[in-house]
Amino acid sequence: MSAPHPSGRDDALVSSARGASIAPGRAVAGEVRTTILAGLAASSAYIPPRFFYDDQGSRLFSAITALEEYYPTRTEAGLLARHLPAIAAATGIERPTFVDLGAGDCEKASRLFPVVRPASYVAVDISDEFLRASVAAVQRRFPDLETYAFATDFSERLELPDIVPTRRRLFFYPGSSIGNFTPDAAAAFLRSLRDQMGDDGALWIGVDLQKPVDVLERAYDDELGVTAAFNKNVLRHVNRLAGTDFVLADWRHVAFYEPRHHRIEMHLEAARDVVVAWHGGRRAFRRGERIHTENSYKHTVAGFREQLSAAGLRTVGAWTDPAEWFAFFVARRA
Ligand code: AVJ
Repeated sequence: MSAPHPSGRDDALVSSARGASIAPGRAVAGEVRTTILAGLAASSAYIPPRFFYDDQGSRLFSAITALEEYYPTRTEAGLLARHLPAIAAATGIERPTFVDLGAGDCEKASRLFPVVRPASYVAVDISDEFLRASVAAVQRRFPDLETYAFATDFSERLELPDIVPTRRRLFFYPGSSIGNFTPDAAAAFLRSLRDQMGDDGALWIGVDLQKPVDVLERAYDDELGVTAAFNKNVLRHVNRLAGTDFVLADWRHVAFYEPRHHRIEMHLEAARDVVVAWHGGRRAFRRGERIHTENSYKHTVAGFREQLSAAGLRTVGAWTDPAEWFAFFVARRA
């Protein structure tokens, strides 16, 4: 049984430890299809990166985080392993409502529980099925913790449902996921976090930093081809969601650093002339033509501090590794 979310939005609270369980709202399938087809029909074709994360895509992303070339995950994990007590002390929130944004397998967050000691855990992710299984596993490991699983697309702004506790919210946004946002979208998103934080909340956010281009480009074009598989998998997901007939072998993975915007760009490039068709439409791509699938912005510590400040957030601490490849910020309402 599935009932639409009361708000009619494309999201749902799928479970909580207290037994309150609201069936997942169906993604508004028509809207998803319209969004995807608009991107494919645009003169510079694009697919929003949130469509990477079907079940297979979430698994491929987990595999990326284990790659030798992909430094962000382990660098951030090292920062947290080393500085977590200092980070928690600088934050100064006892028994928070720990809100995990882009929770995935919930591993990153649950490793922090012994120090963070959350009063409740709110896992938010776009991938509904994957999230449910992950939160169920957390609940088995921590039977006394109040848990919530909230499946939603927060790529524009986050709006937590009313039953999520409002006190002492600690937002956890690791992995430089903020990197997918353009500066304007990042500003709007950070402001929405600030607005839902209350006076007693805080934000923990990991951001990837600018560094030598060869290091960046290898991280997004690894030798095993896992990132290429992750990128191409979006076409399968799109075929299912929008009824397109992409053939994966027609497309090549392309990733490069774009220094003007300080971002990695990922694209899928047509290996030959291709026509992609769907019910009611089609799009011809010439050989070499690209579909833009992702931006991953790279920051500086000073620049990101500025972005936080522009969103009404005050940095109370920032930690980096010795090479300054990655930074972890603690911010509170200004
Ligand atoms: C999940 C957005 C942080 O940009 O590094 C990894 C996604 N794409 N490899 C990133 C990603 C290709 C990742 N984020």
